[in-house]
Amino acid sequence: MRVLVTGGAGFIGSNFVHLTLATRPEVEITVLDAMTYAGSRASLAGVEDRAEIVRGDITDADLVDRLVSQCDLVVHFAAESHNDNSLSEPWPFVHTNVVGTYTLLEAVRRHGRRLHHISTDEVYGDLELDDPARFTEATPYNPSSPYSSTKGASDLLVRAWVRSFRVDATISNCSNNYGPRQHVEKFIPRQITNVLDGVRPKLYGDGLNVRDWIHVDDHNRAVWTIIDKGEIGETYLIGADGEVDNRTVVHDILELMGQGADDYDHVTDRAGHDRRYAIDSSRLRTELGWSPEYPSFREGLAATIAWYRQHEDWWRPMKDATERKYALTQSVLSR
Ligand code: NAD
Ligand code: DAU
Repeated sequence: MRVLVTGGAGFIGSNFVHLTLATRPEVEITVLDAMTYAGSRASLAGVEDRAEIVRGDITDADLVDRLVSQCDLVVHFAAESHNDNSLSEPWPFVHTNVVGTYTLLEAVRRHGRRLHHISTDEVYGDLELDDPARFTEATPYNPSSPYSSTKGASDLLVRAWVRSFRVDATISNCSNNYGPRQHVEKFIPRQITNVLDGVRPKLYGDGLNVRDWIHVDDHNRAVWTIIDKGEIGETYLIGADGEVDNRTVVHDILELMGQGADDYDHVTDRAGHDRRYAIDSSRLRTELGWSPEYPSFREGLAATIAWYRQHEDWWRPMKDATERKYALTQSVLSR
């Protein structure tokens, strides 16, 4: 079985490649990745003998057509993925997330291939902190940012191609991932590498925003569960009951790294900052039998801190440029 993994040099995609090669001897992989600032060849170190790595753009229709024709299954991770970037420069998000997904859909339609589309819980907008509700597959789409609106658009394209052209596709919408090989622009790796650099963590606004954390390996095991057992045309929410507010995450990181729990700064808030995400993954658990394997967020966080401590060679090349970019829009409001 040959699997085309788009975005396989990014955070979740590269972990998917490692997990798949470690657990599925029958699978061969082709990675299609544009190697943007978020893609890293180093994330695929050690897999070169079993994975073909193609540098290319998912909006390149000829390339996508050829690679799709040569595979049995497409797992589509490639995206512009960072909300802050989508606020400063939205166009690459429209280009990759919308036009790129359209390009893949047309190719899988022509060649009759199966597609699994990776999406996000952000398409549902946000919840109030005191709202007992969580997102389900029936929650209406209400995205807030350019990033989440382009992901919503990509989901709707997939649904339309299933209904109108009978494309064999499934969709998953997952909550916030953490784990190894995540770009240092994202919340958890940014704070871990700040502490390693002797810099105080940076919390947006009041820091009470809640995210529903899941380890990247649990996400990717859920993706395989949906590929193996999911119903064509259906959407599954993936989440591990991991709601934590950002201030608590920063406290935990500081404590696990031997610092004072209050040694962080409040900085300029993100425009339109979603307050809370929360996933109800009952459908995936009851219908397909998936459950997360990571025992707790704190244990996963400790393992992630250990990974960044041991892999400075991986994150150092991206750290300075990332912080220079943040410095243009963020200033310290209080300590
Ligand atoms: P990432 O930014 O780490 O990786 C994205 C990858 O896509 C990079 O390797 C990049 O080079 C590649 N890419 C970007 N534009 C491309 C293009 N035009 N053609 C080919 N490759 C291109 O992102 P991630 O965090 O690994 O997210 C992967 C997917 O999972 C995305 O679709 C995202 O929306 C979704 N998702 C992410 C999370 C999360 O918490 N990170 C949660 C739910 C869903
Ligand atoms: O919910 C799934 C989504 O999770 C994915 O679709 C996105 O691709 C992924 O980037 C992530 O989006 P968020 O915007 O939630 O993640 P981010 O890591 O950017 O921020 C997490 C929270 O931490 C959010 O409330 C903003 C806050 N934050 C972020 C940074 C970078 C800070 O307080 N300080 C920071 O320095």
